[in-house]
Amino acid sequence: MAVREPAITFLSHTAAASGAELATVRLATALRSMGVTSTVLFTQDGPMVAELSRRGVPVRVVSGQFDSTKVTIGGARIAILSGAWQMVRLGWDIGEVIRTSGSTVVVAESTKALLMGAVAARRARVPVIWHVHDRVSSEFFGTAMASILRFLGWSVSSGYIANSNSTLQSLMTYRKRSVVAYPGVEAVDVAVHVQRPPDQVRIVMVGRLERWKGQDLLLRALARSAFKPQATFVGGAHFGEDFGGELAELVTELGLTDSVTFTGHVSDPSTYLADADIAVHCSRTTEPFGQVIVEAMAAGCAVIAANAGGPLEIVTDAVDGLLVDPTDIEALTQALDNLIGDPVLRWELAERARSTVARFTVEETAATVDGFLRAPSSNLVRGRPNG
Ligand code: GLC
Repeated sequence: MAVREPAITFLSHTAAASGAELATVRLATALRSMGVTSTVLFTQDGPMVAELSRRGVPVRVVSGQFDSTKVTIGGARIAILSGAWQMVRLGWDIGEVIRTSGSTVVVAESTKALLMGAVAARRARVPVIWHVHDRVSSEFFGTAMASILRFLGWSVSSGYIANSNSTLQSLMTYRKRSVVAYPGVEAVDVAVHVQRPPDQVRIVMVGRLERWKGQDLLLRALARSAFKPQATFVGGAHFGEDFGGELAELVTELGLTDSVTFTGHVSDPSTYLADADIAVHCSRTTEPFGQVIVEAMAAGCAVIAANAGGPLEIVTDAVDGLLVDPTDIEALTQALDNLIGDPVLRWELAERARSTVARFTVEETAATVDGFLRAPSSNLVRGRPNG
C-alpha cells in the first residue's frame, strides 16, 4: 500500500490560551521536531499565534466575518444559522488556502473548526480528521446538540483523533478509523520537590474560571478543611463566562479572603505548580482529558482529581494521586485533609506520579498522530491518486 508523507493543516477557530489550543501548539511543535510538515491555521488572532511563531512553527490567520465568540454551539437558533453560514463561507476560503499550500490532510481542532474544515477539505480535495478535545456528551452539549455533533462528525470526517478513551467513547465511530492520542507534556526538568509541613501547605488549582471546572467546589472544601491552607487559583476567563465574580463573592462569604489568591490568566502556570504541595482538579462535568493533572504531576505535586472521564486514565487512586467524586464536597474535604496532614503520603504519591508522567510525553502524542495520518492513502486521501 502506498504511504504518503502527511503535510498537515491544523485548523482551529480560536487562538486563545486554553487547553485544546495549548495541546495543538505542543503537538505541532513536536511534529516539527520530527520533521513532519505542519501549519496551524486559526480563524481568529490570539496569543497562540505569537507562541507558534516564537517556536518556529508555520502559522496563519485566515479570518472572514465569522466571529467565533458570537456563536455558541447550543445557543439561539437564529444565531447558530447565521453563524453556520459564515463558517461555511470562511471554510470555502480556507479550502483555497489549503489547496494551494499542498496540505494532504486537515485536522480540525474543535467542533466549529470541524464545520469549516469539512467545507475547506472538500474544496481542497483532502480528507478531514476530527481531533476531538471535548466529550460529545449530553452532559456537555445537551442531548439534541450532542446527537447532531456526533452525526456531523461521523458524516464529514475520515477519522478521529481523541484525547482520551473517554472522549472516543462519546463519538459515533462506526466504520471510522480512530486513535487515542493523549495530549503529552513537553520535556520537564523535575526539580526536587520538598513537601511542606501540614500548617504550611499550599494548594493550587489551574484552569479557566468556568463553572464546569468546579473552582467553587474546592473553595467549599477549603472552608471545611481542618487546616485552612493557602490556595492559589491560576487561570482567567476566556470565553465570555464571568465566573470569577461569583467566585470572589464566595470567597468572602466563606471567610477565605486571607487564604485564597486568584492570579488571573498566566501564560505559564509551571512556577505556581512547582511551588505548590497539592494540586486539585475537580471539574463537575466529566473532564475529557485533563492536561493540568499531568502538568501538576510533572511539577512534583501530589494530586487530587475527579473520578470521571480522562482523569481516570491518568490517575490510579491511592497510587499516584487521589480520586474523589468532585460533587461530594465532604469527600473532597476528606481527601484534602488526609493529604495535608500526611507529608509522607504526599511525597509517595508525587514520587510515583513521576513515572506516570513518562507515559504522557508530547513526543508520544506526535508519534501516535503521525502514525495515524500516515495510514494507507486509500483510507485517508480523497480525490487524489494513490502515490
Ligand atoms: C480540552 C479538554 C481537556 C484536555 C484538552 C487537551 O481543553 O477540556 O480535558 O486536556 O482539551 O486535549
